[in-house]
Amino acid sequence: PVAPDLVGRHVVISAGGTREPLDPVRYLGNRSSGKQGYALARTAVARGARVTLIEANTGLPDPSGADVVRAGTAMQLREAVLKAASDADVVVMAAAVADFRPAEYATGKIKKKDGQEPAPITLVRNPDILAEVAGRRARPEQIVVGFAAETDDVLANGREKLRRKGCDLLVVNEVGERRTFGSEENEAVVLAAGGGETPVPFGPKEALADTVWDLVSARLG
Ligand code: C5P
Repeated sequence: PVAPDLVGRHVVISAGGTREPLDPVRYLGNRSSGKQGYALARTAVARGARVTLIEANTGLPDPSGADVVRAGTAMQLREAVLKAASDADVVVMAAAVADFRPAEYATGKIKKKDGQEPAPITLVRNPDILAEVAGRRARPEQIVVGFAAETDDVLANGREKLRRKGCDLLVVNEVGERRTFGSEENEAVVLAAGGGETPVPFGPKEALADTVWDLVSARLG
């Protein structure tokens, strides 16, 4: 039995990884599977929340009980998140959002030409959605949660990222070798604004999701 501690709460969760198109057939992408975001959605539904899941390119079946919104690119994800966040109690940015997108989109497939060097790809920055949501706070008591995948100095980088983005909680995990991407398990430390640090041992992504909701619940009061 799970505590129905999110009854009456609207939670918005982003999941998956954005794809930034170069032309109609090619994109710049990343290796996020979306499984952690879906685990957050399932556990939030189980705890009684109204859930809006904004998914980017996961190919996963819709979790029952959640409203699912599709967003392919970072710009589409931003629009969907900002819209859903306007009446949200909690926003969790579990999606891997591309930091950059190609400056130009070719409406026709880019062709290779004999004897010609390939043209360089110029990138421009995408907006930081997490920082924007945290800075804007559609509701004063809204809780904003971010994720950070780090390869080294995990805690120090996480602390600095939590401060820079202005979120309430930041789930930091170490990536690189075998773990995290596409797997059913995760291991993380949840950092809280104001100083809390909650280690979550290697285990199912649901267990990490439930720890996030425990911490969110405590902050919602
Ligand atoms: O800066 P970094 O990409 O490590 O931050 C990761 C966190 O920020 C994740 O929660 C991710 O969803 C969010 N993010 C975002 N918009 C971006 C880049 C990251 O919301 N453009």
